[in-house]
Amino acid sequence: MNQNIHDLFNLSGKVAVITGGSGWLGSAMSQALAEAGAHVVILDINNDAITTLIDSFKKEKLSVTGMCIDVMQDKPLRASIDKVAADLDRLDILINCAYAGPIPLLDDVRFEDIDKGLHNGPGAYCIAAQQAAKHMRVVGGGSIINIGSMYGMVTGYPDVYEGLTSPSSIVYQAGKAAIIHMTRYMAVYWAKDNIRVNCISPGPFLQRDIPERMPEFARRIAEKVPMRRYGQSYEMKGVVVFLASAASSFMTGQNIVIDGGWTSW
Ligand SMILES: NC(=O)c1ccc[n+]([C@@H]2O[C@H](COP(=O)([O-])OP(=O)(O)OC[C@H]3O[C@@H](n4cnc5c(N)ncnc54)[C@H](O)[C@@H]3O)[C@@H](O)[C@H]2O)c1
Repeated sequence: MNQNIHDLFNLSGKVAVITGGSGWLGSAMSQALAEAGAHVVILDINNDAITTLIDSFKKEKLSVTGMCIDVMQDKPLRASIDKVAADLDRLDILINCAYAGPIPLLDDVRFEDIDKGLHNGPGAYCIAAQQAAKHMRVVGGGSIINIGSMYGMVTGYPDVYEGLTSPSSIVYQAGKAAIIHMTRYMAVYWAKDNIRVNCISPGPFLQRDIPERMPEFARRIAEKVPMRRYGQSYEMKGVVVFLASAASSFMTGQNIVIDGGWTSW
């Protein structure tokens, strides 16, 4: 069977949900899925960011809507996914991206930080995936993409942060490692339902004004990257469309790392 490459990447007629879809990387991925033809529903706790983003996408004639929810709350999270499937008659793609956990120092970390971080990361990803899978089975399958991190694979260099800012926390990194492995678990158990589950692990994509506000930090980060720079948010677009679409139809349980080579040293 031959498949045209344009058809393989085409998401026309598909419905995608993205948690944290109005954030730095989430907005680029929302745009990518919509540009590839999907209707995208952003689930995010930041209502102002959702509204601003949707207004800008409308100008580009992209099909994007949004709902303000807290992914840490079981009922609203499940209900929002059910509502998307009910309103749009299907659900094909879920991107788990929302995260805003605590960043305690190792010497200060408490049980409550760990509970909160793991609830916000792997916990919410798992519940969203479970709820989305119910609707994906109805349409014969789907694609779930978990956003992990290179810090789920390797830990940070303390000297990058020294004297400038708090290091990436143990809670965050434990959660991201869990997300990479949860991806394999989900992929294996849901393969029979034709639900593919993959992970994207970004490296350093410095948010918004960080390079201007913290030039020394940006310099130190870039120095650790073989490509000698940090990522730009649009550099998440290609891989998310690849994993969401039929272009990756025989691929599940994988972790694609986008880090300019950081984890290859
Ligand atoms: N930026 C990077 O360098 C980088 C690197 C590796 C991994 N990541 C991962 O990529 C994802 C996106 O990161 P980002 O840099 O775009 O961050 P961001 O802070 O810009 O985006 C996170 C989004 O999640 C939303 N959110 C947070 N808590 C929520 C909740 N409880 N309910 C609903 N929405 C919530 C926020 O409002 C925000 O829009 C995260 O999972 C992050 O861990 C980012």
